[in-house]
Amino acid sequence: MRSVIDILDLSVAELDELVACANDIIENPEKYAHKCAGKKLATLFFEPSTRTRLSFEAAMYELGGNVLSMSDAKSSSAAKGESVADTAKTISCYADIIAMRHPKEGAPLVASMNASIPVINAGDGGHNHPTQTLADLLTISREKGRFNNITVGFCGDLKFGRTVHSLISALSRYENVKFVLISPEELKLPSYVKKDIIQKNNLEYVQTTDLEEVMPELDILYMTRVQRERFFNEEDYLRLKDSYILTPEKLETAKKDLCIMHPLPRVNEISVAVDEDPRACYFKQVLNGKYMRMALILKLLEVK
Ligand code: CP
Repeated sequence: MRSVIDILDLSVAELDELVACANDIIENPEKYAHKCAGKKLATLFFEPSTRTRLSFEAAMYELGGNVLSMSDAKSSSAAKGESVADTAKTISCYADIIAMRHPKEGAPLVASMNASIPVINAGDGGHNHPTQTLADLLTISREKGRFNNITVGFCGDLKFGRTVHSLISALSRYENVKFVLISPEELKLPSYVKKDIIQKNNLEYVQTTDLEEVMPELDILYMTRVQRERFFNEEDYLRLKDSYILTPEKLETAKKDLCIMHPLPRVNEISVAVDEDPRACYFKQVLNGKYMRMALILKLLEVK
């Protein structure tokens, strides 16, 4: 029985295997239509979500399985004070696998230590979001054809951006990856990610506040939302929320084969005019997320 709490819980070989499986699902969906017949996925979401919860649920239905869904913490016994550990033990009596999102960092880890079924971290606070990284990796693989020899710009909220932390961890294991970290001073990458991941792996990186200056060198531009829900002070949020707004004009100096990514939801940080640009890949990411979650469910349930 195996859980995925951090993207580093999966080896590079396993990531390759998941990407290959997702590509095969895309090519041959009928092969997979009954693979999880009789199995149940429980989606336990203690924080709002559109893509992650619904793509997990769509993934399980497309594998022929069933879903138990908890989309609102207020309607669960967590509202009466039940612990994450007791919730995990309880759900283990009903389902075969759990996908859990929680506002507290480490909650899915606690769930995995108490459940008797696999637990997948579907986003924990400002910490990690490994299955978004799976969606991101399939997108990079399909758009760029490689994980090595790339310059990746992360722009926006790098402090609380859990998708950024997980994707940096994943890419740190490949060759000749350079990170360009673009953020306001207050939203810089946490020092633990810089020290424990980037510097430990001797990866090249630069930090800047100026997106337009670095635009021409990027192979991938990963935009992120400034997340109102992570701020203690509304004034700080209002001051920082529009720090970066990507427009067609700002993309004029970008590479012709730039891949523009965003985990979504977006607020203002990418103008809707950019959606028409063939380099915009963020809605492809959404679809890729469903295929990678299908591949992950199959792996953790040990379905051949
Ligand atoms: N990318 C992502 O996690 O989106 P949701 O919050 O809608 O699940």
